[in-house]
Amino acid sequence: MRILIIGAGSIGSELIKECERLESVEEFYIMDHHPEAAKKISQDMKKAKVISDLREPFPGIDLVIEAASQEAVHEHGKKALTCGAELMLMSVGALVDDELREELFKAAEDNNSRIYIPSGALCGLDAVISASVVKITEVKLETRKPPASLMDSEFVRESKINIQGLEEETTIFEGPASKAIKLFPKNVNVAAALSLAGVGFEKTTVKVICDPSCENNIHTIRLLGESGELTGISINNPFPDNPRTSYLAALSAVSALRNICGHVWYGV
Ligand SMILES: NC(=O)c1ccc[n+]([C@@H]2O[C@H](COP(=O)([O-])OP(=O)(O)OC[C@H]3O[C@@H](n4cnc5c(N)ncnc54)[C@H](O)[C@@H]3O)[C@@H](O)[C@H]2O)c1
Repeated sequence: MRILIIGAGSIGSELIKECERLESVEEFYIMDHHPEAAKKISQDMKKAKVISDLREPFPGIDLVIEAASQEAVHEHGKKALTCGAELMLMSVGALVDDELREELFKAAEDNNSRIYIPSGALCGLDAVISASVVKITEVKLETRKPPASLMDSEFVRESKINIQGLEEETTIFEGPASKAIKLFPKNVNVAAALSLAGVGFEKTTVKVICDPSCENNIHTIRLLGESGELTGISINNPFPDNPRTSYLAALSAVSALRNICGHVWYGV
């Protein structure tokens, strides 16, 4: 298998290490706006090659993994699928854009390819998908994060709330997932994955709590429906140098890659 990883940050670094380890990966390419970090991580690896554009290796790639940004999904998503590669997306929030989502889903269908969306920092997405086979009445996500994790969001830039100065937990947003994703594009990818798996971006409601006493990124999902009731809570350790991203999100990308390369698939 030949893989292209776009983005060599927190999540990409874990994927790079896994690609080097996995026997079924023959070679893999890494592309990042800042190639220095990618070169540093992969300098002693035998199968890795850092590239600066997509022209040369793209047609021979089996799987493109986006672990970069919503812009990268716009730039490379459709191209990956039309070149016959499968596509794994971490910046799932990009799919709130109806035009892009429909374009990518159609490209996957037309090219007999697949789009993989790992469960990210959430627990229970497998159960939400099962519950969605029948009627779902309600899906709610509560995201509790420390101020540092929310610092560079659109919301904080646009609002007048000084989240660094908060002394107690404060609900800073409550509304539909569609709006949450636009205001917190790098912080609530989980809301996008949950919406896609369940009842869509408008019917999924999101509450974002900024909690100065909290050191983890905590996501609680609640679902009511014909299948019953579901509550899932993940209390996630953040990456040390990237408080926005939960370690579990990177591990979900690694485990998705293992599933794609392997022969037995748990929790499908
Ligand atoms: N699905 C989830 O649950 C989940 C959880 C955490 C993060 N994410 C998302 O996954 C993505 C990666 O997260 P991360 O924590 O590894 O981020 P990061 O900031 O640590 O790394 C991102 C890397 O991608 C590079 N990059 C950005 N845009 C690019 C582009 N268009 N082309 C090439 N390189 C580009 C950056 O230079 C950076 O090195 C982000 O969009 C983040 O919002 C998803």
